[in-house]
Amino acid sequence: MKITITENYEASCQQAAKMFVELVKNKPDAKLGLATGGTAERIYELMAKDYEAGEVKFNKAKTVNLDEYRGMPADSPQSYRSYMDHWFFDRTDIDKANTYVASGTAPVEEELAKFNEALYGDGKYIDLQLLGVGVSGHIGFNEPGDFLTAGAHVEALLPSTIEANARFFDSPDDVPREAFTMGMADILKAERIVIVMSGDAKADATKALLMDDKISAKWPVSFLKLHRDVTVLLDKALADKIGYKA
Ligand code: GLP
Repeated sequence: MKITITENYEASCQQAAKMFVELVKNKPDAKLGLATGGTAERIYELMAKDYEAGEVKFNKAKTVNLDEYRGMPADSPQSYRSYMDHWFFDRTDIDKANTYVASGTAPVEEELAKFNEALYGDGKYIDLQLLGVGVSGHIGFNEPGDFLTAGAHVEALLPSTIEANARFFDSPDDVPREAFTMGMADILKAERIVIVMSGDAKADATKALLMDDKISAKWPVSFLKLHRDVTVLLDKALADKIGYKA
């Protein structure tokens, strides 16, 4: 893992955005693995700024999103499809026909077939996968437990995830209880991965990635230790909080 301690969250976002922009400049038809969540918002804003400045075009890029809430209509403001439209797709020239975010309302088997088609149907792996981490240590929505799941599937969300994501809803009761998500093997097949870790709430998950050499289904994020090309962007405040030294 390449671990970079950045000055602050903004600097982490700048570095992550730069990795995507440089990739697409060099490989316009790159396949991008995208994430949602509060951490990623600024990264998309910065990528869209580079598009507006004429630095990069996304019109040939393909994207696959990590996850979507099950039962959530695509046009609901809380859907991850709406999130992607708002923060990134509608701000750039991306061709939405080349974007995949699982449909939360489709029958499960049908949607999982589409998910696998988006991931593998073109015979190409994701060039660069963006990740955040959940308070529970999840990546995508792969929650900790006795085992993890390799392929795309429906995952039951843990109470801590429902609580953490309740800020995007009127009440915790409105947070969907399940989600479609890429599986662990899907994520680990990406050519490169960049994960942005920021905020005190992520201290335990960050420790599980950086402070020991263990890989455990209790901390899905720890499986990134198995991957050959992971960039961890950790801001100084969080590094100090967990006592991580470069
Ligand atoms: C969400 C998403 C993850 C994201 C994580 C952190 O629930 N499923 O892909 O990385 O939780 O979100 P945030 O950045 O809002 O803390």
